Amino acid sequence: MCGIVGIVGKGAATPLLVDGLKRLEYRGYDSAGVATLVKGKIERRRASGRIAALEERVNAEPLGGRTGIAHTRWATHGAPVENNAHPHATDKVAIVHNGIIENFAELKAELAAKGRVFASETDSEVIAHLLTVLIDEGMAPEAAFGAALKRLHGAFAVAAIVAGHEDLLLAARRGSPLAIGYGDGEMFVGSDALALAPLTRKISYLDDGDWVVVTGSTVTIHDHNDIQVTRAIKETALSGALIGKGNFQHFMQKEIFEQPAVIGDTLRVYVNPATRAVALPDLPVDLKTLNRIQLVACGTSYYAGLVGHYWIERLARLPVDVDIASEFRYRDPILEKGGLSMFVSQSGETIDTLSALRHAKAQGQKIAAIVNVPESSMAREADVVLPTHAGPEIGVASTKAFTTQLSVLASFAFAAAKARGTMSAAALNELAGAIYEIPEKVSAVLAMDEAIRAAAEIVAPARDVLYLGRGTSYPIAMEGALKLKEISYIHAEGYPAGEMKHGPIALIASDVPVIVLAPSDEWFEKTASNIQETKARGGQVILIADAKGIAKAGSLATATIEIPESHPFVTPILYSIPVQLLAYYVAIRKGTDVDKPRNLAKSVTVE
Ligand code: M6R
Repeated sequence: MCGIVGIVGKGAATPLLVDGLKRLEYRGYDSAGVATLVKGKIERRRASGRIAALEERVNAEPLGGRTGIAHTRWATHGAPVENNAHPHATDKVAIVHNGIIENFAELKAELAAKGRVFASETDSEVIAHLLTVLIDEGMAPEAAFGAALKRLHGAFAVAAIVAGHEDLLLAARRGSPLAIGYGDGEMFVGSDALALAPLTRKISYLDDGDWVVVTGSTVTIHDHNDIQVTRAIKETALSGALIGKGNFQHFMQKEIFEQPAVIGDTLRVYVNPATRAVALPDLPVDLKTLNRIQLVACGTSYYAGLVGHYWIERLARLPVDVDIASEFRYRDPILEKGGLSMFVSQSGETIDTLSALRHAKAQGQKIAAIVNVPESSMAREADVVLPTHAGPEIGVASTKAFTTQLSVLASFAFAAAKARGTMSAAALNELAGAIYEIPEKVSAVLAMDEAIRAAAEIVAPARDVLYLGRGTSYPIAMEGALKLKEISYIHAEGYPAGEMKHGPIALIASDVPVIVLAPSDEWFEKTASNIQETKARGGQVILIADAKGIAKAGSLATATIEIPESHPFVTPILYSIPVQLLAYYVAIRKGTDVDKPRNLAKSVTVE
């Protein structure tokens, strides 16, 4: 989604602003722009397309000034053309905005009636005109900003600069995140700490409803009631090095190969390496007596939730419901007071999931958040946080966040089984051993890189692809299909293997590759029958299985990818790796923009 950077600086602002935008590129965007104050006047440069196009504009027409704002726009209202790119400006103010102004049509009509002329199709431009009218009516910029915010409905973050006020930056957060960076004689605002990583390590996060007056030496924060407040300043551990590609060609590739390390980092928080005992942070509920768990998430995080569903019910005999966040509130779910709702999210900012969290909280549920960004809104609003330790995930297609989410859910299912006494000590011990071995086994799967690259040759020419799996392999089939769609733009569906004969079998043809995930678990023989059915209809199967499975069914497949044998409980984590790499190599073969696939945003902060 859109990204915001702002600076009240000491030196040239434009290079720092453009650099900040580059670090927000991962969020997804289709135009970019920057505005600064040059001798007190607002000047701006904007371009549709990539930041490189904006850089060309800035190189052709340099932009001076020490105070400015910049933006990457992910189009919602109006096409991704230069006119709609931010900053939006009048002669008095320039603004950048992330989110949606729900009452923009009403405001636009009101402002047009006052003679304001609009230059874009965006909802955002009303903010610039509203501020201008208030300043023209005699209000000081700070008061005008506070008053303008009261007229805006919706979820957003906004930053503004004002002509003639070179030591002033105004910003606000309502729904969309915004961080303040503290420098020495200079201050920054950014959509996240990554944007500000090389500029400062001192960060504070605005609370929802906060608005802030920033100068080169001061930061004055007000809450939603305009009362002056303080927000803790934290040292962020993020550095430029953490967000580099290293020796990899793409962030996604780097993040796939980081998985043994980050899964290990995550598991170590929950599983004691010496005793193999699993411990969770203090929960706001008693697992022994809990009746039910509600899991809620979007996209890849939702598929992690589906695996969690199997695990928690199977191991702990604890009923679980899993919902897609964007549907959750609207189906008016029955949520027992004091029950546990768990929200799974890499970013911790996905607005559908965050709104679902707030809905559950309002119904008296206790809230657990499985998030990768510790300072995120979900982390801050939850009763307990079960962190994933994936480190910054930049590739739009989620990979290491997913397997670390699975690692947390596996630990949770284990702890719940132990608390509820649903498994014998021997079975728990065997399971702890299997969990403990995951990082090493993931490394072994990554070593199958070449076989996966070869299988990608079969998939790349296809228009449609089917992924099949049973049990916990079914969510991984859906995740594999999502990865392929996202980065290679090939249509793909993930299906429960047993459901194929109820419809999708009509699609089987020699040009529709069928990727079958078939670990040696209790469902293997049944999945093998589905492979036979596919083969009998001329389908080409890519079989992902262990040596035993390949010995039994490999002869029916066009290609096989061998995964180490493992306890069936951990197979979803291991089988995630080949589907990620397969999508990656298909995308490489097709020459798509792997880290920034078209139309997608890393963190979806609009409904
Ligand atoms: O940050 P979140 O985990 O809440 O994001 C949820 C989805 O938007 C995300 O998983 C999306 O589906 C990814 N692009 C998948 O690769």
